[in-house]
Amino acid sequence: MFTVTLKSSGRQFPVNAGETVLEAAQRAGVALPYSCRSGVCGSCKAILLRGRCEYPRHPPLGLDAHALAHHAVLLCQAVPASDLLLEAREVASVEDVARRQINMVVEHKWRLARDVIGLHLLPDEGEPRLLRLPGQYLDVLLEDGKRRPYSIANSPQADGAIELHVRHVNGGGFTSRVSDSLRVGDRLRVEGPLGTFVPREDSERPMIFMAGGTGFAPIKAIVEHFIALGTRRSIDLYWGARSASDLYMRELAEHWVRELPHLQFHAVISDPDQAAGLRTGLVHQAVLADHPDLSGHDLYMSGPPPMVDAGHQGFLDAGLPEDHLYYDSFEYAPDVLASIIAGRAGIHDR
Ligand SMILES: Cc1cc2nc3c(=O)[nH]c(=O)nc-3n(C[C@H](O)[C@H](O)[C@H](O)COP(=O)(O)OP(=O)(O)OC[C@H]3O[C@@H](n4cnc5c(N)ncnc54)[C@H](O)[C@@H]3O)c2cc1C
Ligand code: FES
Repeated sequence: MFTVTLKSSGRQFPVNAGETVLEAAQRAGVALPYSCRSGVCGSCKAILLRGRCEYPRHPPLGLDAHALAHHAVLLCQAVPASDLLLEAREVASVEDVARRQINMVVEHKWRLARDVIGLHLLPDEGEPRLLRLPGQYLDVLLEDGKRRPYSIANSPQADGAIELHVRHVNGGGFTSRVSDSLRVGDRLRVEGPLGTFVPREDSERPMIFMAGGTGFAPIKAIVEHFIALGTRRSIDLYWGARSASDLYMRELAEHWVRELPHLQFHAVISDPDQAAGLRTGLVHQAVLADHPDLSGHDLYMSGPPPMVDAGHQGFLDAGLPEDHLYYDSFEYAPDVLASIIAGRAGIHDR
């Protein structure tokens, strides 16, 4: 057994043999940032100040040569090979939110866009509700032991209601089931809450939100939270999609603009033939064109990995401090990633 020490807070926790730093931290009630848990998105990045780690599960694909040269490690994959001293961000607000598994019933299923289904779930009779923060996600637990993460699109509700926005993926096991055979009244076993993509309220900085496709789901929950709080901080919301009809809740975003004078909404369409008069281009480029200096902002982004990767690099180059960038990248689940790596296919060729 090894001990991990976090330099900034001085907190320490033990790590059992074969356990990752993230798993051990969660067992000890220490909230470190993470999203995909597959070693791809990089949101669990920390700096190793002393000690040695190994990567027996997945290689640290979320670290580039520059990060590796600066002793970065990925906490969701790093297994200590000695005691460690780490420089890592802590997300205190998620610390007290206990994770649990419950059965939920599909109350409503509706089509949001050509390839996006909305699901409204309620806790099954006798089940407690999931306590959670806006922006977190849950895992749907599949019969074969696999899991699929989905962001929760509504802010926490007294009756435990959960809204999901599920995009159909070609060849995808669970999303094909959602499209084809999942019915109202069916039960899904879920575990949550998960993730650290949550509102940061200890800041007065203006906020930029950038969503790609169903990446709108957690951003909807966080924006609704800030609206309910009556925030006076300015909000610029960018939502990118391939076509105008893929912006499946555009009326809601336009409603927020009418409600809040300091909220701006920017729709950005990547296929000029499908733009229906809206702004065209890549959504992260629209953010950068409007905000060439991001040094004074908080930026939240969520959606497909290529968008998150491009935004990550572009926003840091525009002066955004890495500590003010919060994101969820909709990476493939760890089991899919493992088979893709075993088959040597490119994981970002999608
Ligand atoms: C934090 C987080 C939040 C997310 N939130 C959302 C959300 O709110 N909404 C949403 O729509 N999605 C979300 N996702 C993505 C979601 O979890 C699933 O990855 C996605 O829905 C696909 O699931 P699936 O079971 O249908 O597909 P899978 O069965 O996982 O397959 C995915 C793709 O991989 C291919 N594939 C599978 N196995 C192999 C193999 N061995 N070799 C090559 N290719 C293979 C399949 O053909 C398919 O194209 C999120 C992901 C993360 C990490
Ligand atoms: S790389 Fe560790 S959570 Fe994504």
